[in-house]
Amino acid sequence: MPVADLQTIRAAFPALSRIEAGHPAAYFDGPGGTQVPTAVTDAMVDYLHHRNANTHWAYATSAETDRALEGARAALSDFLGCDPDEVVFGANMTTLTYHLSRALGRGLQAGDEVIVTRLDHQANVAPWRDLARDLELVVREVPFRPEDGRLDVDAYHRLLSDRTRVVALGAASNALGTVTDLAPLVAAAREVGAFTFVDAVHAAQHQLPDAHALGCDALACSPYKFYGPHLGTLYLRRDALAALDPHRLPCAGDAGGERLETGTLSHEAMVGAAAAVDFLAGLAGAEGPRRARLETAFVELEERADGLLDALWGGLEALDGVTLYGPRPGTLRTSTLGFTVAGVPAEEVTRRLSDEQGVFTSHGDFYATTVIDDLGVGPDGLVRAGISIYTSPEEVERLVSGVAALAG
Ligand SMILES: Cc1ncc(COP(=O)(O)O)c(C=O)c1O
Repeated sequence: MPVADLQTIRAAFPALSRIEAGHPAAYFDGPGGTQVPTAVTDAMVDYLHHRNANTHWAYATSAETDRALEGARAALSDFLGCDPDEVVFGANMTTLTYHLSRALGRGLQAGDEVIVTRLDHQANVAPWRDLARDLELVVREVPFRPEDGRLDVDAYHRLLSDRTRVVALGAASNALGTVTDLAPLVAAAREVGAFTFVDAVHAAQHQLPDAHALGCDALACSPYKFYGPHLGTLYLRRDALAALDPHRLPCAGDAGGERLETGTLSHEAMVGAAAAVDFLAGLAGAEGPRRARLETAFVELEERADGLLDALWGGLEALDGVTLYGPRPGTLRTSTLGFTVAGVPAEEVTRRLSDEQGVFTSHGDFYATTVIDDLGVGPDGLVRAGISIYTSPEEVERLVSGVAALAG
């Protein structure tokens, strides 16, 4: 079964019918959060209208809620590449990471070492730094190379030692699109007995996570970055989850991911996240296991995105005064691109693209503050354009000509 074509995909997103500045709105803000297909909002409305209840009671809608949430755990386990009892839900990745870091902290002591990177979003840095401050842990920081946006893997291996207790790595940079080949880094960390935490929030929009194959202890991502509602989800390896001593109510559920979940969750968002997984799998047809369909869909959709990235990079590179950052197309990267326009602050670039072309791009540091510091682009930061599954060649051309009008 071939993967759905662009027109079919676009028809699923009501947001694409918005008119902005006389143009159909073009959403290049996917790295900050993608648009949502009707299938996802329908599932959320259906839940709220017909099955809305709290869990674990002996009446129909409560039982249906239990089943819907079980279904959400199963869908997200197919997405993450793990088992349903290894899936934790929470408000967002940042909150889940703080919570997990605090739980891990109960097993750490002064002088233990934590590795973070300068290529990561602060959500995978600040929780570990805060923990280090409270427990007097030592933080080791892996640099990246500003010239190509790649993590300094040699430095990582030099920093890793038998004192390292936690390694916090990003699967892909939300500012530059850099994808890091994490498997060897995770394997090396496990050899010294460190807990391995992977931030896959940006990566998961472009590459299907495979938590078990990667071998990490924990991997976080957020369904609102892959066409779902605002929500966070975490893979936690079964034995790591069981060994954890999280801050929790003693009377709360303790099975699987529930160990790390606090209070009533957003049931409708969990249902919506499952619908997003089904939507993505459904792009590769209705037959066969969901995980296999997800794999097929992701491979094909990323190939299409790579083609659009080539066009976008090439178009922008040809413009005087435009500087592109991060790895070149055709290398290990996502289709997210950071750039500056000489003499025009990043915020102004994005405002004018919106006002004049109906093109939505983002500006600033995207909470990847150390990336912006080390690139030396100044406090305005970058303009960021992300290609998503609904991006069309016409939108890429419009973005390039909009930037050309600004740069010229
Ligand atoms: C790479 C990366 N990590 C973490 C986060 C934070 O995710 P959340 O908003 O779910 O806390 C983001 C959000 O933009 C991100 O891009």
